[in-house]
Amino acid sequence: MTKLWGGRFTEATIAEVDAFTASIGFDARLAVADIRGSIAHARMLGQAGIIPDRDAEEIVLGLEEMLGEATEGTLKFRVEDEDIHMNVERLLTERIGAVAGKLHTARSRNDQVATSMHLFMRSAVWEVVQEIRALQVTLVEQAERYIDVIIPGYTHLQRAQPVLLAHHLLAYFWMLERDADRMESTLQRMNVLPLGAGALAGTTFPIRRELVAAELEFDGLYQNSLDAVSNRDYLLEFLSNASICMMHLSRFSEELVLWSSEEFGYIELADRYCTGSSMMPQKKNPDVPELVRGKTGRVYGHLIALLTVMKGLPLAYNKDLQEDKEGVFDTLDTLLPALRIFRGMISTWTVHSERLQTAFDKDFSAATDLADELARRGLPFRQAHAVVGQLVQKALSRGIGLADLSVEDFRELSPLFDERVHDLLQLRHVVDSRSAVGGTATCAVVQQLAAAKQSSAFVSSSERS
Ligand code: ARG
Repeated sequence: MTKLWGGRFTEATIAEVDAFTASIGFDARLAVADIRGSIAHARMLGQAGIIPDRDAEEIVLGLEEMLGEATEGTLKFRVEDEDIHMNVERLLTERIGAVAGKLHTARSRNDQVATSMHLFMRSAVWEVVQEIRALQVTLVEQAERYIDVIIPGYTHLQRAQPVLLAHHLLAYFWMLERDADRMESTLQRMNVLPLGAGALAGTTFPIRRELVAAELEFDGLYQNSLDAVSNRDYLLEFLSNASICMMHLSRFSEELVLWSSEEFGYIELADRYCTGSSMMPQKKNPDVPELVRGKTGRVYGHLIALLTVMKGLPLAYNKDLQEDKEGVFDTLDTLLPALRIFRGMISTWTVHSERLQTAFDKDFSAATDLADELARRGLPFRQAHAVVGQLVQKALSRGIGLADLSVEDFRELSPLFDERVHDLLQLRHVVDSRSAVGGTATCAVVQQLAAAKQSSAFVSSSERS
């Protein structure tokens, strides 16, 4: 079959080469973006007098008809036509005849693919932002719902100091806040039009790029044609932002896996988010968080893959750049469902508050508070630390917790302790004493919730757009 570019060739490509070089298998999802870009280009060609108005109109009508079918997914593509751009042009030619050939005036597939990808990613990244924001709202809802629940806080996965579950959940809220900000900032930087760069050097036609940019709602134009066709920074930024966001979801997943184990028993995930075992009838496995954790590795892989594709490429377009798409699409297909499913998983979980109370039996997590108290009474903190260390040892040797020691036990190690020492060990007191901004005290967390509600996550998406 003759190719659109077949003029200088004496033989056709073999089927194996067609299959190897084709991208239609994955870039078909650029159809709508590609057609929209072509409509804007055709209009501009007419307006600038580069092709007759009548031809431009015919092309636009043909493309508009295809747009509906592209949205429904009913356009039929062929591997021999290599990619979405040539498939669209072939289908247009079948519909409106030879005049379709005027569409590619003053354009190359190099600036065309860049334009399609910019348009596609603009809505995709926007959707990611919406999903992140929605998960943030869910976290705030759950933080408010469980504002009374105290959980052990850990460092080195060893019991450290108690914190509010709400405080823990809000930590993820702020991570997601940065994730959404990063995505929005990438969106801003990528909203410039590459079309008009031609293959690499621009075009001999008197194009009017600002018309195309205005119609496609780009904020500006690439100022350098070489950069316009070979820039993939915005995809690298997206992959990097997505990797960081997946890393956050993965850390949370790891905690959900731990917390739902019998050993912790802090939470239970709803059945609809778990699976069973083919052999062990008693099993209920947290497959969803495990897979979020697992898929995170694949997303990192896509980032490294594209960085590696880019590192040795001379300017400007090289076919290697076609390798930018699969990883980006797969990242979208991983990140979006992960964010969505997380929202459902967190809003349907059960928090075992009673079990969490027993988690503090024979507890040492108020040790810092005792040392702080001695320091407040004038003992240098280092000495206070040593005194409490001995108290811990005393309790450990008797197989009891700090609160089970008597006032005499305390005073034996330091006369600075008085009969109210046990008040310091009350769990609620321990939590609520950390009341400076950013601390876990209920009053500080209530303030934190108010700050969280100032985030764009709480502006409705229509107001934001
Ligand atoms: N399918 C190609 C890609 O994704 C489109 C651009 C092809 N340009 C070219 N000169 N072969 O990069």
